Amino acid sequence: MNGIKWFSRRFSFFLLLVLVFGLSCDDDFDSSIPYVDVNFYINLVNHNSLYTVGYPEYFNGGYGGIVVINNGVSYYAYDMTCPYETDFNCRLKDDHDVIGTCPCCDTQYNLLDGGYVISGPSAEPLKQYRVNLSGSRLHVSN
Ligand code: FES
Repeated sequence: MNGIKWFSRRFSFFLLLVLVFGLSCDDDFDSSIPYVDVNFYINLVNHNSLYTVGYPEYFNGGYGGIVVINNGVSYYAYDMTCPYETDFNCRLKDDHDVIGTCPCCDTQYNLLDGGYVISGPSAEPLKQYRVNLSGSRLHVSN
């Protein structure tokens, strides 16, 4: 009996840690990219290429433009400005590739999964914006 009690206490404590750290990580990430209010809708009827998995589309807005991609499970939206130098001129190439490349120092970012660095000098992922799908409309916001 003591063994089961010991285990359930340890397991509850571990679950609590996962919940606390898991829930707080994403929301608290402080991007180097300056804050710009983002709040717009994309009509997928007019942008039906976004139904294609892995085909990013580019939109005005954010600090340096916004790239939106469907990864087959959900939609991601990122600021196109590279966070390594946060220079307006260093923005991802709009080459419709699932790997976003910065033209300044060649950092590559995985657009399909959170904008994390694949290679290059940057240590910071792309700045993400929230994307909510409602019917055939995407709502992109801070
Ligand atoms: S500014 Fe993007 S990697 Fe150098």
